[in-house]
Amino acid sequence: MKIAVLVGSNRKESLNKKLAVYMQNRYQKTAEIEILPIEKLPMYNQDDELTPPEIVTEIKKKVAESDGVLFVTPEYNHSIPAFLKNAIDWFSRVDKVLAGKPVMIVGSSPGVLGTARAQMHLRQILNSPGISALTLPGNEVFIGAVHEKLNESGNLVHEPTIQFIDTVIENYINWIKKTK
Ligand SMILES: Cc1cc2nc3c(=O)[nH]c(=O)nc-3n(C[C@H](O)[C@H](O)[C@H](O)COP(=O)(O)O)c2cc1C
Repeated sequence: MKIAVLVGSNRKESLNKKLAVYMQNRYQKTAEIEILPIEKLPMYNQDDELTPPEIVTEIKKKVAESDGVLFVTPEYNHSIPAFLKNAIDWFSRVDKVLAGKPVMIVGSSPGVLGTARAQMHLRQILNSPGISALTLPGNEVFIGAVHEKLNESGNLVHEPTIQFIDTVIENYINWIKKTK
């Protein structure tokens, strides 16, 4: 099973990126998990969508070929970062590579709400006609105070959070199998 990961932060020390890498390592026996380099995508421009730069085609192909897409994102000003929205906008046009794609959302922040507001927006966006992704029902992953739960090597060390994510990933994988 192939899972494509979209991380909503492009900064080097991103806590969400660390979490995505942690998940990639922890669940490597469960799925082939690849973090897609969406930081390489140019700003979406409708003039270019029929003849996009090669990197757009390459990343869209990876999304299209995946069995599921995992979003790991911070919250910026009560929404998702523009960086992530840009990738979604590319994915929503011409060949709509997220349509019908089983999607799971994880968000983390140093604050207490763990990206709850951004995830509400993200679910709304993913449900729009150009995207029409299938979002994992009944499971939400809001990780607050994430800087206290990741150690210096970027490993999650907060046992309740580890167990919780294990359960949601299991639910996600089982649900992907059912949606096929
Ligand atoms: C432009 C900007 C806006 C932010 N807005 C919010 C916000 O609305 N809610 C929140 O909980 N944290 C907010 N933060 C703090 C982020 O949660 C924090 O910087 C986090 O570490 C970013 O994720 P990253 O470590 O993966 O890059 C904001 C940070 C930035 C840089």
